[in-house]
Amino acid sequence: MSETKNYEIDSNLKILVTCGNSNLGGNVIKYLLEKNYPPKNIITTVRSLQKGEKWKEKGIEIRIGDYKDPESLEKAFKGVDRIYMVSSVGEANYPRSKQHLNVIEAAKKCNVKLIVYSGFLNCQNNTNVVAEDHKYTEKLLEESGLNYSIARNTSYINTIGELFKYLMKKENNFFYNSYKDSKIGLALIRELGEAGACILLKKEPKKIYELTANPVSYIDIKNTMEKMTGKEIKIIDVPIEEIDNKCKELGFGMYYGMMCKFMSTDYINGIYDVPSKDMEDLIGHPCTSLENAIKEVIEAPNYFPM
Ligand SMILES: NC(=O)c1ccc[n+]([C@@H]2O[C@H](COP(=O)([O-])OP(=O)(O)OC[C@H]3O[C@@H](n4cnc5c(N)ncnc54)[C@H](OP(=O)(O)O)[C@@H]3O)[C@@H](O)[C@H]2O)c1
Repeated sequence: MSETKNYEIDSNLKILVTCGNSNLGGNVIKYLLEKNYPPKNIITTVRSLQKGEKWKEKGIEIRIGDYKDPESLEKAFKGVDRIYMVSSVGEANYPRSKQHLNVIEAAKKCNVKLIVYSGFLNCQNNTNVVAEDHKYTEKLLEESGLNYSIARNTSYINTIGELFKYLMKKENNFFYNSYKDSKIGLALIRELGEAGACILLKKEPKKIYELTANPVSYIDIKNTMEKMTGKEIKIIDVPIEEIDNKCKELGFGMYYGMMCKFMSTDYINGIYDVPSKDMEDLIGHPCTSLENAIKEVIEAPNYFPM
C-alpha cells in the first residue's frame, strides 16, 4: 500500500460508513483505507459489536446502528462529518423507505455535513418496483436541507454469479433470457465501493453520479462465457412473463429470476444503458473488463474485503 495522501478533504473529518458488514459498505471502507484515510477517523455501524470486531482490529471505530432503531442511529452519528449510507435490504414488516427516513432524520439531528447514498442507476427513469424506494430516498435527501451526493449504482455483476457458475459446468450450454441485445452496465460491487470511497473523499462531490461500467448485453455475456469455457452456448428467448419460472427450472434461486422479471421492461427500453463515465472518472482507472469481472465473481462469489 502506498503512503500517498490520496484524497482532497481534511484528514480530521470523521467519516462513517453504515452497514460495515455488507459487501458494499465493506468495500467502501476497504478503499478509504487504501487511499490512506486515517483509520482513527473512520467509523462503521454494525448491528452487533461482535460482528464488527474485524474492523476494530484495523483501528476503525465501530458503533451500533440499526436502521429500525432511530435512537441507535442518532447515537452512532454523533460527531460525524460525512456518512456513506448503504441502502437497506428492507423487511416486509419494516419497509426500506421507513428505514431510510430514520437514517436521514438522524443525520439531520446530528448536523452531518455530507451524506452519500447508494442509489440506483438512472433512478428517475426507472419504472420497476425496486426503484420506488430509491426515488423516495432521493426526494427525502433533496428536501432534507442536508448536503448530499447520490451514488446511483448500477446492477452488481456479482448478482448474476449464479448464471456464470451454471454456464461453467460442462453439461450446461444454454440459458433463458428476455432481453435480446439490450444493454446494461454491470459492475463489480468492489468497484462501486471504490467509487463510493472516492465520493466521500472529494471536497465538493456532485449531487448525482451515475455509476456504471461500460454497458454490455447478454449476447456479450454469452460470447465471453463461450471464450472462457470453449463451448458453444445458446440463448433461448422467452417472454418476460415466463423468465422467473424458466430460471427456476435451471436451478437458479428465486432472487435471480425475480430480478430478471422486475427489471426486464426497463432493461429492454434501454434504461440501464447509460453511457456515463462517472465511475471511471472517480476511481481514476478503467472499470474491470467483462471477462475479468466474470472471473472475479466465479472465483469469489461471496467476496468480502477482509
Ligand atoms: N445494485 C444492485 O445490483 C443491488 C443488488 C442487491 C442489493 N442492492 C442494494 O445494495 C445494498 C447493499 O448490498 P450488499 O450486497 O452490500 O448487501 P449485503 O452484503 O447483503 O449486506 C446487507 C447489510 O444490511 C445490513 N442490515 C440489514 N438490516 C439492517 C438494519 N435494520 N439496520 C442496519 N443494517 C441492516 C446487514 O447487517 P448485518 O450484517 O448486521 O446483518 C448487512 O450488513 C442492499 O441492501 C440493497 O439495497 C443493490
